[in-house]
Amino acid sequence: MADPVFLITGASSGIGAATARHAAEAGHRLVLSARRTEPLEALVAELGGADRAIAVGADVTDWEQLRAVVERALDTFGRIDVAFANAGFGAKRGFLEETPEHWRSMVLTNVYGAALTLRATIPALKEARGHLLLTGSVAGRRALPGSLYSCTKWAVTAMGEAARQELEGTGVRVTLIEPGMVDTPFFSQRPQGALEADDIARAVMYAVSQPAHVDVSELLVRPTAQGV
Ligand SMILES: NC(=O)c1ccc[n+]([C@@H]2O[C@H](COP(=O)([O-])OP(=O)(O)OC[C@H]3O[C@@H](n4cnc5c(N)ncnc54)[C@H](OP(=O)(O)O)[C@@H]3O)[C@@H](O)[C@H]2O)c1
Repeated sequence: MADPVFLITGASSGIGAATARHAAEAGHRLVLSARRTEPLEALVAELGGADRAIAVGADVTDWEQLRAVVERALDTFGRIDVAFANAGFGAKRGFLEETPEHWRSMVLTNVYGAALTLRATIPALKEARGHLLLTGSVAGRRALPGSLYSCTKWAVTAMGEAARQELEGTGVRVTLIEPGMVDTPFFSQRPQGALEADDIARAVMYAVSQPAHVDVSELLVRPTAQGV
């Protein structure tokens, strides 16, 4: 199919922005979403302008805003072939660290926001027999000490599998992307020995570019040096 449409949350930075570049290179049209619209607009310009990409500001914890993203996508491009529920952020490890408000915001973004993204995009994905991807984490496969962030990513792991089972028979593929440490603004201090966002973007494109009968259900990608 010519120029499939690829929607990404958390596209203003890091893994989401890198994936947008790789998807554009592979011929996808892009629907870029995040709360900050300035970096999204810059990415639209970089990826070829309004015919190739649109920027739609939204907070994934707000159902009406997410619905508006999907509406804009369908009004502009008429379909959604790939949806990448990628928006998320972390917190310091330790159940006595951070503020309760930071926790609330993180849980809502990483878990509820991912679920709302699925809810908003699944009807269009069914229509297109498309592909749903979620960004989990290696921290969603093993509990990290004192990490509520890790708990949110366990929920995302379950969400990917729950969605895959629910969507059986619809033609929609579901892939859980599970990065190890990646050098992005996720970290306040740049991590050593980490992956680049491009490394994860290539994993996403590997899953997306498989033939329709192949569901790459999970991809766990660590830097070679990362033990845990
Ligand atoms: N970096 C790592 O080592 C690593 C490892 C495993 C998993 N991950 C996961 O990878 C995903 C992307 O993270 P990243 O490493 O690329 O970090 P990043 O560069 O900080 O990107 C996070 C993205 O999420 C968006 N975002 C955050 N809260 C949002 C909200 N409430 N509504 C909408 N968008 C929101 C941010 O945009 P705005 O601020 O503009 O909204 C930004 O585009 C996250 O789910 C993260 O948990 C990262």
